[in-house]
Amino acid sequence: MNTSAQAASKQNAGYRSAEEVGDGMIVGLGTGSTVFFAMERLGARIREEGLSIAGVPTSYQAAIRARRYGIPLTSLDEHPGLDIAIDGADQVDPALRLIKGRGAAHLREKCVCDAAERVLIVVDRTKMVETLDAPVPVEVLPFAVETVSRRLAALGADPVLREGVKKDGPVVTDNGNFIVDCSFGAIGDPDRLEAEIASIPGALECGLFTTYTEKITVIIGEEKGCSVVS
Ligand code: 5RP
Repeated sequence: MNTSAQAASKQNAGYRSAEEVGDGMIVGLGTGSTVFFAMERLGARIREEGLSIAGVPTSYQAAIRARRYGIPLTSLDEHPGLDIAIDGADQVDPALRLIKGRGAAHLREKCVCDAAERVLIVVDRTKMVETLDAPVPVEVLPFAVETVSRRLAALGADPVLREGVKKDGPVVTDNGNFIVDCSFGAIGDPDRLEAEIASIPGALECGLFTTYTEKITVIIGEEKGCSVVS
C-alpha cells in the first residue's frame, strides 16, 4: 500500500471510530497516527455539534494532541470505568488478538483497554495478519533490564533494547522505563506467551493483548470507506 493510500485508510478508520462516541462519554485515547485522526474528528464534533466528552490520554503525546483538538481531559483516577476506548494496533489476528506498542505506550494503553466497556481498534488493512509475528514490545523496569532480557531469551525471543533514532541511548517511556523488543517469529500461542511474559519480575507489560477480544471491535480503514469486524 502506498503512503497516501495508507494515510487515507488511517484517516477513514479514525474518523469512523469517532462517530461511535456519544454525548457524555468518557473516552480512552490511545497513542499513534491512526487514533490521532479519531481525536481530530472528535475535536470537530465538539466544536460543531457541542458533543460533551472527556478523554483519558494514554501518553503525553496523546494528551498534547487531545488538547490541540480541544478535547477536555480527565484521568483514570477520576474515571476508573470508561465508556469506550479508541486505539491503534501494529498487528491484529483473526481472533482479534493484538500486538501493540510501537509507540511505547502499551502499558497505559492496556490499563485503559482494561478499564473500558468497549474498545475500538483503528487500523489500515496492512495490520491484519493470519498469525501474529511482529516483535513484541516489553516495558521493562531499568533496574531489571538484563535479568528480564535473559528470561525473554529463554522464552525464545531475540530481545533488543529499543534505542532512539540517533542510537545514543535507550528510549525511556512516559513511565520512566525501557522497552525491549522481542522477535519470536510466528507466535503459535499468543495467550500463553502473554501470560509467560507477565510472570517475569520486572517485565511491567508486554504489547500482546489477547484477553480483550470480547469487547474489541476492529475498524479497518480502506482507501475509500471502512470495514468493521467484531
Ligand atoms: C502505541 C501503539 C499504536 O497504537 C500502534 O503502534 C499503532 O500506531 P499507528 O496507528 O501509528 O500505526 O500501540 O503504543
